[in-house]
Amino acid sequence: MKNLLVTGGAGFIGSNFVRYMLDRYGDVRITNLDALTYAGNLENLAGLEADERYRFVKGDVAEPDDVAAVLADGGFDAVVHFAAESHVDRSLHHGAGTFIRTNIQGTQVLLDGCRTCGVARYLQVSTDEVYGSLGAEGRFTEGSPIAPNNPYAASKAGADFMVRAAWKSHGLNAVITRCSNNFGPYQFPEKLIPLMIANALEDKPLPVYGDGKHVRDWIYVIDHCSAVDTVLRKAEPGSVYNIGGDHDVPNIEIVRLILKILGKPESLIRFVDDRPGHDRRYAMDSSKIQDDLGWSPAHTFEQAMRETVDWYLAHRDWWERIRSGAYRDYYDGMYAARLKQAGA
Ligand code: NAD
Ligand code: DAU
Repeated sequence: MKNLLVTGGAGFIGSNFVRYMLDRYGDVRITNLDALTYAGNLENLAGLEADERYRFVKGDVAEPDDVAAVLADGGFDAVVHFAAESHVDRSLHHGAGTFIRTNIQGTQVLLDGCRTCGVARYLQVSTDEVYGSLGAEGRFTEGSPIAPNNPYAASKAGADFMVRAAWKSHGLNAVITRCSNNFGPYQFPEKLIPLMIANALEDKPLPVYGDGKHVRDWIYVIDHCSAVDTVLRKAEPGSVYNIGGDHDVPNIEIVRLILKILGKPESLIRFVDDRPGHDRRYAMDSSKIQDDLGWSPAHTFEQAMRETVDWYLAHRDWWERIRSGAYRDYYDGMYAARLKQAGA
């Protein structure tokens, strides 16, 4: 696996993965195909421009010509597909069209391209959200029913089915990873943890959806990257692997922890109108990847959270630049009325 095409490498997890692989393997070469949507940011890859093992190509995974062009001159050993529309709230409030196009059609275009060009390995980066919501007990296994509850999750589930079909029907050597909620450096500040850190640092209200008791299973992004690398190298064609941080907690606990680390008051918390169809609980059973492939997370949640908060403190210019641009309109549209109703 020396010559990789990584899609979505200018986003949160993709950029961490590019850095992780270049740090870990001296002889790896990476081409990063990214459309640079609102979530794609070449600043996330700053410092790599001079690395001759790394190359950036601007292109859209749902455009067959863009994909054919990059695959034709690449000679890739594998494709690792991160590129996606990734934010649930946008899929609910801004329409699902771009989610269907990028997440389903984009996956299909890449799968077709891999077959045409004889790429030897394809890895689909999927999510625990395809399983829907858990009740009070239990954890998602790879055998849990696929039951997505929001347009983002449905588009990711559709993509997973296209990958399965490419393996079954056409014999493509494809594997799927399904990971829980990531946190760490370079996460776009629309997502819970960076949003709460940035708002707290600016003494702005922290909008917690519903009663704040929705549970997510948090994993440090570098542990997700090491799991993707492990599956890429070791998994059988057609296999699916769950990846989780084994740290499932209610959102309100995460928000309180951030306030505590920053020394900010809990009076900043505002309980606002809930997200429609809000999944109540996610928790992953990662025993298959641990038992079959020998992967386990290398970071504890508490240490990784402190390092993450430190990173956002040290990179204030990075998130302030994002929050001062077009994102501000998104934020006002998403939260202004809800915060007013909550008395903020
Ligand atoms: P992100 O939104 O931070 O980044 C997405 C990247 O994809 C951006 O660089 C964007 O420019 C690029 N992109 C979007 N549409 C594109 C297109 N049509 N063509 C080419 N590039 C395009 O997302 P993320 O949080 O880093 O998530 C990466 C992947 O991991 C996604 O597939 C997501 O579903 C999956 N995932 C995310 C999490 C999480 O907690 N963030 C957990 C599990 C799985
Ligand atoms: O579970 C994996 C998924 O995690 C990934 O597939 C998605 O790409 C990623 O965005 C993430 O989805 P979530 O919807 O779980 O993440 P988000 O950070 O948007 O929200 C986390 C939880 O926090 C969720 O229960 C909603 C809640 N929340 C979120 C925001 C943005 C709030 O209470 N207030 C907020 O302002």
